Amino acid sequence: MVQCHMERLTASARILGFPDLPYSTADLVAAVRQTIDANGLRACYIRPLVYLAEGGMDLNIDSGRTHIGIAAWPWKDYHGAGTATDGIRINVSSYARHHPNVMPTKGKVAGNYVNSFLAKTECVRLGFDDTVLLDPQGYVAECTGQNLFVVRRGRIVTPPLSAVLEGLTRDTVVTLARDAGLEVGEESFPRDWLYDSDEVFACGTAAEVVGVREVDFRRIGGGGTGPVTRQIQSAYSAAVRGGHPRSPEWLDYVAAGAELRSLP
Ligand SMILES: Cc1ncc(COP(=O)(O)O)c(C=O)c1O
Repeated sequence: MVQCHMERLTASARILGFPDLPYSTADLVAAVRQTIDANGLRACYIRPLVYLAEGGMDLNIDSGRTHIGIAAWPWKDYHGAGTATDGIRINVSSYARHHPNVMPTKGKVAGNYVNSFLAKTECVRLGFDDTVLLDPQGYVAECTGQNLFVVRRGRIVTPPLSAVLEGLTRDTVVTLARDAGLEVGEESFPRDWLYDSDEVFACGTAAEVVGVREVDFRRIGGGGTGPVTRQIQSAYSAAVRGGHPRSPEWLDYVAAGAELRSLP
């Protein structure tokens, strides 16, 4: 899966108009492994960054030189202790997701995150754990750093890719759900469905799979992490920790001395 992340990094640079990166995907995967190994990390977040330096101050991507840095640091529950079991409380943000002709929504681009910072800061100050941004047409898009799913009338539904980041966890969840014989659809839906669904959950590399127990002060299902979410959450957790039939196909391994650590 590191390969997929590095492919998305390369694609994001291409979308922004960077010239070809000075490193291949294989080089980047190897560098990620080395960074983790050199820092002796176990559960960690990895943040590769493509940036320009040595250029003029003229806002032209062609006038700088491309550099890549990789940071990694230890990782715990993204939304805080207990949220993996209890679920999170979210609202619908006053901020909308970018129109695709304003910012490149398919690129994982640092500048896009100003939108997420604004929305996340606002919702935390209001007392929520995270927030849902609507797309420019007013349909549900995604959370600040996670894709979103609802479980409604026996189906799992997630917004189409038009205005959201093509999350690798989203893709993983769709595969795991279909593997388990669950029906998954990709379609636009209004915020009303958030209020009128049996379950809502969010997913991303940082947050993994997290249930939503409340949206805009409306309790979802039984007010905790629902059964379908729990099923997907535990399949995902097993998959990224080496205990799922899909794990060998999806994981890369970092050797640290005699110990092998898995890497989603
Ligand atoms: C806006 C946004 N949506 C969705 C995601 C989830 O993507 P992934 O599952 O690849 O981490 C992220 C992750 O950074 C994100 O920033």
